Amino acid sequence: MTTADATAPGEPILIVDEVSKHFPGVVANDAVSVEIRRAEIHCLLGENGAGKTTLADILYGVYRPDEGRVLLHGQQLELSSPRDAIEAGIGMVHQHFELVPPMSVIENVVIGTQAKQWLDLSEARSRLDDFFADYDVEIDPDAEVGRLSVGEQQWVEIFKTLYFGVEILILDEPTAVLTPQGVEELFRILRRMRDDGLTIILITHKLKEVMELSDRVTVLRRGEVVGTVNTGDVDQRDLARMMVGRDVLLQVDKHRRDPGDPVLEVSDVHLVSDTGRGSLDGLSVTVGAGEIVGVAGVSGNGQNALFDAVIGVRHPDTGTIRIAGTDVTDSPPHRIAELGVASVPGDRINQGLMMDFSVKENLVLGDQRDQRFARAGFLSRNRIDSFAEESIERFEIKTPSATQKTRTLSGGNLQKIIMARELSGDPRLIVVHQPTRGLDIAASEYVRRRLVQERDRGAGLLLLSEDLDEIFQLSDRIAVIYDGRIVAVTEPEDTTLEEIGMHMAGASGADASTTAAP
Ligand SMILES: Nc1ncnc2c1ncn2[C@@H]1O[C@H](COP(=O)(O)OP(=O)(O)OP(=O)(O)O)[C@@H](O)[C@H]1O
Ligand SMILES: [Mg+2]
Repeated sequence: MTTADATAPGEPILIVDEVSKHFPGVVANDAVSVEIRRAEIHCLLGENGAGKTTLADILYGVYRPDEGRVLLHGQQLELSSPRDAIEAGIGMVHQHFELVPPMSVIENVVIGTQAKQWLDLSEARSRLDDFFADYDVEIDPDAEVGRLSVGEQQWVEIFKTLYFGVEILILDEPTAVLTPQGVEELFRILRRMRDDGLTIILITHKLKEVMELSDRVTVLRRGEVVGTVNTGDVDQRDLARMMVGRDVLLQVDKHRRDPGDPVLEVSDVHLVSDTGRGSLDGLSVTVGAGEIVGVAGVSGNGQNALFDAVIGVRHPDTGTIRIAGTDVTDSPPHRIAELGVASVPGDRINQGLMMDFSVKENLVLGDQRDQRFARAGFLSRNRIDSFAEESIERFEIKTPSATQKTRTLSGGNLQKIIMARELSGDPRLIVVHQPTRGLDIAASEYVRRRLVQERDRGAGLLLLSEDLDEIFQLSDRIAVIYDGRIVAVTEPEDTTLEEIGMHMAGASGADASTTAAP
């Protein structure tokens, strides 16, 4: 048996031995066995609902396993809380950060070291300064966390765990909130941390990232381990096949089409932030029928404000918005929805779903008066039931039943409910924010194909996304949003990922082949 300080790089540090975790109607982890080696980057890969977060939460003391055991340095772990995990040397950064926004970086790092409440902030400051300098991260320890970008907040979470002195760091979909440059920086630093001896467990849906970063990969499917492989021995296709159990296309067929009349015209819209959801500063963008306009941008540059303005949740201070020729600048949301506008918000939990309703109720939310579900003026239970069953099947929503409480579904499956609901009524304009964030590859493939189908049917799509691969794959035109304005418009064939990335970062010199917005 090894002891705490005797585990050499490459030796098993953490052993998950036949761990099972049941939730009502679901086996989230089914006799899972994984060996994590010291100083490796180990990816957990699997479809939505495969059990990745559940496994991570067990290692982090959020859940106790129903069966099986976890060994750290050969000793069985008994964790009753994340605090126990941190004391044992295991830290985790969840997808929803647990920082306190009004407090400073340094205060956020130090709170939680409860036993050391009397701790001198100056000691913490000098340790943090050392971390940041050592890893070349530019964050002011005195900055208020609420004012940092999401990417910077993630750094605070990561350094907080390191400050506690963990030797194993678990990251649940850390790249979902980052720009391409942010992902590069994260990967550079994670590699450094690994080389310094840290063991990293990383959950991601992006196969490219798995290939680029990890040493080994464990694939989960329906709660079971499909296998653990050396990353160097496989390619993306192999991993996709292990995850899904069949070949996945990873490509979307899309043919060039000329757009029809405008379905959305946003003209010189100014909107000052009053809600913390951002401002617009003279934004103009047009979407034609049968056209996908991808709005690329780092989050926080006005995407939420644009989304809110188009669906009528907030109204412009000046400027106009037209849907299919109708001025809707001051129209309420229901009026805009009646014109055939569907929307998929980025913040799905707060905006798109009633978490305490059933899956079925959420699938028809807002559509209850819809023709499809009514017969002679009454709601038809049968129609709602069969629509729900059909949606669950087509979008492969993993749920024990249509009557399951929505709150218990995994991240990706929540997103699928909104997609199924919003794409069901033949909308004329679809406004989607991060449509595949958190979706596994099969679900992403399906959603992207569906979006292209909607376009081919003649719908206009305004696609807000930070995923540049997605923007390039789907867009007929790309518009870059920066500081509440569209700063460049181009076609995917006429530009490069790097150039769009530069515009997203606010670099104005990069516009050789792009033109400013009309
Ligand atoms: N607290 C809970 N109560 C009931 N069921 C749950 C709970 N947490 C998770 N589940 C179920 O356990 C299964 C695994 O969920 P988990 O969150 O681990 O999946 P995941 O692999 O992280 O998926 P995603 O990629 O969508 O985040 C899912 O079917 C989910 O609905
Ligand atoms: Mg998850």
